[in-house]
Amino acid sequence: MIYVTQTFRQNEVLIMNKLTIPFNKPFISGKELYYVANSVMKGQISGNGYYTKKCESFLQNLTHSSKVLMTNSCTAALEMACILIDLKPGDEVIMPSFTFVSTANAVVLRGAVPVFCDINPETFNLDETQLSACLTDNTKAIIPVHYAGQSCEMKVINDFAKENNLYVIEDAAQSVGAYYYGQHSGALGDFGCFSFHETKNIMCGEGGALLINNPKFIEQAEIIREKGTNREAFFRREVELYTWVNHGSSYLPSELQMAFLYAQLENLKSVVKKRRKAVEYYLLHLKPLEDRGLIHLPTFLPHNEVNFHLFAILCRDVQERTKLIEYLKKQGIGAVFHYIPLHSSPAGKQFGRTGKTELTNTEHVSECLLRLPVYFDITIEEQSYVVNAMNNFFSKL
Ligand SMILES: Cc1ncc(COP(=O)(O)O)c(C=O)c1O
Repeated sequence: MIYVTQTFRQNEVLIMNKLTIPFNKPFISGKELYYVANSVMKGQISGNGYYTKKCESFLQNLTHSSKVLMTNSCTAALEMACILIDLKPGDEVIMPSFTFVSTANAVVLRGAVPVFCDINPETFNLDETQLSACLTDNTKAIIPVHYAGQSCEMKVINDFAKENNLYVIEDAAQSVGAYYYGQHSGALGDFGCFSFHETKNIMCGEGGALLINNPKFIEQAEIIREKGTNREAFFRREVELYTWVNHGSSYLPSELQMAFLYAQLENLKSVVKKRRKAVEYYLLHLKPLEDRGLIHLPTFLPHNEVNFHLFAILCRDVQERTKLIEYLKKQGIGAVFHYIPLHSSPAGKQFGRTGKTELTNTEHVSECLLRLPVYFDITIEEQSYVVNAMNNFFSKL
């Protein structure tokens, strides 16, 4: 579709043909539909079959984790990790308040307490310098969340965890294809949790994976994923029959999801490459707005090889952000914000608490952050339309 812009009056740009640019778009990268059909033809669409194993070995090779288990979501992987470390009522887990609810829910489901920590104002990741202000005798684990595929300062976090005998569960929901000092995110702590939800770089609608980086948990993790049974050992012919051996739930994805996902994983490199181009386009073309102090562009630290999952800018304040979202919406552009800080949410107040620090960065970022559309097959034409709309908005101020 072609659109035309022209200078109309001073500082005013008229957008002639309106485009519709959603915030996110599911995509087919290659053989997804063929593999889904193939899984049906193979006669197995329930869990733990051919494509599940293919995804697991792909992710194991990619991350060098001791063991990868595919799950039906990142939420499920987080819950499994919390069961595996035997999180109990009264235990505390340090995490950012600026995250998706699943990070905290996994802890709360065990009767434990999320302790909310502030974030770094540039990377929006857990502020590792605030960890000691959140530590008590009850602290059992830390859940760093790698925002937008940019890793938290894992060297500092892992050292702190070691000194204080804590587990580290990485919420790497947004981090497939992202590296920290050359090591894959999610393979840096005791556990890593990936998401393959529709909005992620690599997706299958709903899906996830648990990376078990500490091999002592592998056997128990297999049991938890299989409803508390030793079915996995049975399929390996290690036991004669399978039975209920411990607590567990239904955390296995179906083969239909894994067949779709495997095709996407095969194209991981090209997906990241495409997203990199899209993000670099915004960085270049929105720089003049940053130079005028109107927006703040994202910062990527040199030791982080990011996967370009999100393009999140900061507006000057919440009022301007609201007006900008409304304006972009009128132009047919889906731009969205997140997260409402968990410490200020009803459940966060009921089940969690903050450490001995103010969460000022969390509150500021939450009020000012705006995500612009980035998806696999976004075109230069679409991105140029978004940039024009942004320029137009600010020219009218
Ligand atoms: C940081 C974070 N954690 C956890 C999740 C939950 O992932 P899923 O939808 O796969 O359960 C998400 C999903 O958006 C997320 O962004």
